Amino acid sequence: MKLQFAVYSKFVIIESRMNKKMNTIKQIVKKELSSSSHDLEHTFRVFELACMLAKKEQIVDMEIVEIASLLHDIARVKEDSDLSGNIDHALLGAEMAEEILRSLDYPERIVQNVKHCIQTHRYRGEAPPATKEAQILFDADKLDAIGAVGIARAYMIAGERGESVYIDIDLNSYVKENLLDGKINGRIKDISKHAPNIELETKFRYIPERLFTDTAKKIAEKRIAFMEDFFSTLKKEIDGSL
Ligand SMILES: [Fe+2]
Ligand SMILES: [Fe+2]
Repeated sequence: MKLQFAVYSKFVIIESRMNKKMNTIKQIVKKELSSSSHDLEHTFRVFELACMLAKKEQIVDMEIVEIASLLHDIARVKEDSDLSGNIDHALLGAEMAEEILRSLDYPERIVQNVKHCIQTHRYRGEAPPATKEAQILFDADKLDAIGAVGIARAYMIAGERGESVYIDIDLNSYVKENLLDGKINGRIKDISKHAPNIELETKFRYIPERLFTDTAKKIAEKRIAFMEDFFSTLKKEIDGSL
C-alpha cells in the first residue's frame, strides 16, 4: 500500500509538470496502453529517467526528450496483439506520434526529432539512435528493463507469454535453436521456450555496453549486478542447494 502510494505520488508530480499539449499526449498514450509490462507506469519511469539523464548531458532539447518518452511505446500493444508478427512498435509508434504531434501543431523540428527517437529506441532495432535526445530515450528505456524493476517486468512479461520461471539450458544450444539466425541478438522464435534468466544471458547482460551516456552506464552496471545475484540465488533455490 505504501509503495502504491509512493508510485502514485511520483506520477502525480510528473503530471503536474505537464503543459496542456503534453497532457493531451498523455491521455492518448493512456488509451493505447493496456499491456501490463509496457503500461503508463513504464512510460512515466522512462520519462523520469530520461529527464534525469538529459539534465546531466549538455545541449539537449528537454521538450523533445519529454514528448518522445511519453510516446515511445504507443504502438506496443498493437505489436503484442499482432499475430502476424509484422508490426514493429518502434516504426508504427513513430508514425502514430507524427500524426498526434501534427494534430497538436508542433513544429516540424520537434515532429522529426521525436519520430527519430521512437524509431530507434528498441534494443533489437536496426537503426542506431543518432541524436542526443534519441540516445537518452534509448538509455532510459533500457535502464527500466534491468535491475529490480527489470526483474519485476521480466516476470510480468513471462506471465503474459506463458514462459517458465527458470530454464536450465546450455546457452549456445539455446541461441542456435531459438534465436533468429542463431545470433545472440536475434529475435526469439518460440516464446514458450524462453524464460527471464535466458533474457539475462542474451540481452540484459549486454545492456551497459550498448548505452550511450556515462550516467546510464554507471546505473546499468549496478542494476545488472543485482540481477546476477537474483538469478544465481533463484538457480540455487531451484537446484535445492539453498
Ligand atoms: Fe519500446
Ligand atoms: Fe519502453
